[in-house]
Amino acid sequence: MDRPPARPDSVFGLSTMNPTPAPRTRRALPQDAALLSDLENRTFDADRISLRSFRTLLKRDTALVLIAERDGGIAGYALLLFRRNTTTARLYSIAVDSAAAGKGVGRALLLAAERAARERGKIRLTLEVREDNRRAIDLYRKAGFRPIGRYPGYYADHGDALRFEKTLHTAALLKAREGSGR
Ligand SMILES: CC(C)(COP(=O)(O)OP(=O)(O)OC[C@H]1O[C@@H](n2cnc3c(N)ncnc32)[C@H](O)[C@@H]1OP(=O)(O)O)[C@@H](O)C(=O)NCCC(=O)NCCS
Repeated sequence: MDRPPARPDSVFGLSTMNPTPAPRTRRALPQDAALLSDLENRTFDADRISLRSFRTLLKRDTALVLIAERDGGIAGYALLLFRRNTTTARLYSIAVDSAAAGKGVGRALLLAAERAARERGKIRLTLEVREDNRRAIDLYRKAGFRPIGRYPGYYADHGDALRFEKTLHTAALLKAREGSGR
């Protein structure tokens, strides 16, 4: 047979063929600001979060920076923003070091971000992504995000953005749905 072997089961997109274990994620600390800024500058050409902004964000309780660690270094980060009086959280940024790309770091950060938002009582996660960022869009779609809008000229260079959203089912909601047979 010249067909490739069928892909084995995957759980929420986590292929069991992936030999690389999921990286550890943790909340970023004030002393991580410089490394986060380095990663930011290596990853993005424009609309960068400055070192100063990272320092401020790391102190705010309306922001949460999650770090994925690999080999003692920072393999990637995700930045969540929260606002009071709303059940929606915003994934403002996610970036993975190019040396660690394609190994599940982005997915692990996304899962950690969803978990953190849920823990804060949020039931919806939104994000914007450049319309031509195939890689990121694939990541979001596979994680269950759906497009809900398009924003022409959203970025500093006038690039267009797509807005995605995901409903974060709480344990209680999932249980209620099972009970109602939906
Ligand atoms: C987008 C990004 C966060 C993905 O992180 P990653 O760690 O490489 O992604 P993962 O290894 O977790 O892959 C998850 C999914 O992303 C997509 N993906 C990853 N690498 C890809 C590639 N080379 N080509 C296309 N899609 C790819 C795939 O859908 C993949 O799912 P699969 O493994 O089932 O095929 C990372 O590429 C990145 O930091 N890019 C630059 C910054 C950026 O664009 N951030 C998003 C701003 S909105």
